[in-house]
Amino acid sequence: MTAINVELRDRPYPVHVGPKALEMLGALIPSEARRVAVITQESIPWSVDPSIGALTITVPDGESAKSLSVIEDICRKMAVAGFTRADVVVAVGGGVVTDIGGFAAAVYHRGIRFINVATTLLAQVDAAIGGKTGVNLVEGKNLVGAFWQPTAVICDTEMLTTLPIREYRSGLGEVAKYHFLGSVPAPNAATTGAATTGAATTGAATTGAATTGAAVDAEVVAACVQIKADVVAADEREGGRRAILNYGHTLAHAIETAGAYDLRHGEAVAVGIAYAAEVARRLGRISDERVTEHHQVLSGYDLPCRLPRRLDTEELLGLFKRDKKAVEGVTLVLDGPDGVEPVSGIDPTILRDALGTLR
Ligand code: GLY
Repeated sequence: MTAINVELRDRPYPVHVGPKALEMLGALIPSEARRVAVITQESIPWSVDPSIGALTITVPDGESAKSLSVIEDICRKMAVAGFTRADVVVAVGGGVVTDIGGFAAAVYHRGIRFINVATTLLAQVDAAIGGKTGVNLVEGKNLVGAFWQPTAVICDTEMLTTLPIREYRSGLGEVAKYHFLGSVPAPNAATTGAATTGAATTGAATTGAATTGAAVDAEVVAACVQIKADVVAADEREGGRRAILNYGHTLAHAIETAGAYDLRHGEAVAVGIAYAAEVARRLGRISDERVTEHHQVLSGYDLPCRLPRRLDTEELLGLFKRDKKAVEGVTLVLDGPDGVEPVSGIDPTILRDALGTLR
């Protein structure tokens, strides 16, 4: 097992990565805490033992659970049970649960401690780390929230063995992203490891491996976590550098908003990464070889890099302008000679033509 620190100056915290990391939970509960609120979903096949009295609160499955009424429900249950500022929330689940649990912790008594137990690949490499918490409004995703950092994160890689295949693939899209932000073992090496040693010894996600031909192990998860921890430590509130974590996400969000819900988030991110490479090439920021490298990483994880046929180019371009990164015109996160960075003011013809190449 590895512990990776998110080195925030006044609130550093560990992310424990590896098989059986869940066994750390009891030791991570602060000694002053008298109660633990475990926020989870019926569909999560893992229970936790926080070693002190736990109130389990289940939230509905799916993105619709990210609502202010669910936060009110959680906070009222904690109030009835007498939770104080000394007590702690433990969120056990994927990104929906860690967003909800973290936001409830951020607002209950103006902020109490919380620990994330990330049960999906996407949560382990992204959502559970970095303190972005919040819920949706009818008007849009994640419009209400807070930066509220956990006191610890647990990424038990044995949990990945039970993930449904689509859920697993969704995480792979985020893993692919990290290949362009830092150093991650190559997908083929990860595949070999998973295929030959299996879940029993490595904690690798053989459910995913069996069906997708790609799998990640604890080493890959730890590499992604290290990159995210470094970026968050450098720019906690996304004043600049943290935007690189959105590599591939501008087109992904547009695809999701335009209604291609048959693509899971990480699959849409994969298409977005292929698109970002194409735009960067047209701007002279990267070579043809680097574009090929993007395609090799994506295909190494068996991820898509083509746009669903029915999505309308003009609608997607319109949605780019509503992206949260957009300050003036369209801003995309692009690869280039100085690495991945946000780029504004891109010629709309390039944006349109690059979409054409993904058809
Ligand atoms: N998921 C992107 C971030 O945490 O900033």
